[in-house]
Amino acid sequence: MHIDVITIFPDFFSSALDCSMLARARQAEALAVEVHDLRNWAADKHHVVDDYPYGGGAGMVMKPEPLILAVEDLLSEAGPDCPVILLTPQGQQFDQAKAEQLAKQEQLILICGHYEGVDERVRQSVVTEELSIGDYILTGGEPAALVVIEAVARLLPGVLGNPASLESESFGSGLLEYPHYTRPAQWRGMSVPEVLLSGHHQKIRRWRHKEALRRTRERRPELLEQLELTEEARELLAELEAECDQD
Ligand SMILES: C[S@@+](CC[C@H](N)C(=O)[O-])C[C@H]1O[C@@H](n2cnc3c(N)ncnc32)[C@H](O)[C@@H]1O
Repeated sequence: MHIDVITIFPDFFSSALDCSMLARARQAEALAVEVHDLRNWAADKHHVVDDYPYGGGAGMVMKPEPLILAVEDLLSEAGPDCPVILLTPQGQQFDQAKAEQLAKQEQLILICGHYEGVDERVRQSVVTEELSIGDYILTGGEPAALVVIEAVARLLPGVLGNPASLESESFGSGLLEYPHYTRPAQWRGMSVPEVLLSGHHQKIRRWRHKEALRRTRERRPELLEQLELTEEARELLAELEAECDQD
């Protein structure tokens, strides 16, 4: 997959792209990220990319011409079907389902806004999707673009050492993931649940399923409502109900 990022702070991405999974994904050539400085598309000698808002008010607005020219240039290479995504708190909420959908694309163009945001004509003319990473306001779209790149990259074939881990991960199965433990089995009076030391694969699998259901029921009950429950999930939820009645 090829991801183009348009930003006024290209340096923001350097260390993140050179670390951990993103570095591995790039080395394995599963992912290529090109970070483009928007100022290269500014026509004036000072490379100005923002201006005062029409109608007055606080802050600056990102000018339409550099952004639209940048996207048009990148689309001439990527082809007209490439998604052009504006990071904005007003966009659709980015989630695992969206990451999976984007991971199927060959190329993406991400636009990072700044100041009060981008001139509305950018949205109208070149943006195909708007994504938000949550209901809070960042200073710029760069952290949001990195979140999208990270979540998408780990879904690309050949990037994760053990792709089986994707299946049980939170949201992959529609549930939050079960709790994890590693050595030592005892630490300051806190023990690893006996079943995990038993070596009994079927019991471990059932315990994990039950704990995933417990977590989801406690923390994100709305996820359970969206799920088609298996026979086993119904049984385990009934057990959890019974445990609650006893408390
Ligand atoms: C200070 S914000 C602008 C907020 C805008 N004035 C508003 O109220 O909707 C500047 C830029 O940061 C990015 N940004 C801020 N919060 C974001 C979020 N939750 N998700 C995605 N991008 C965000 C966007 O690119 C936005 O253009």
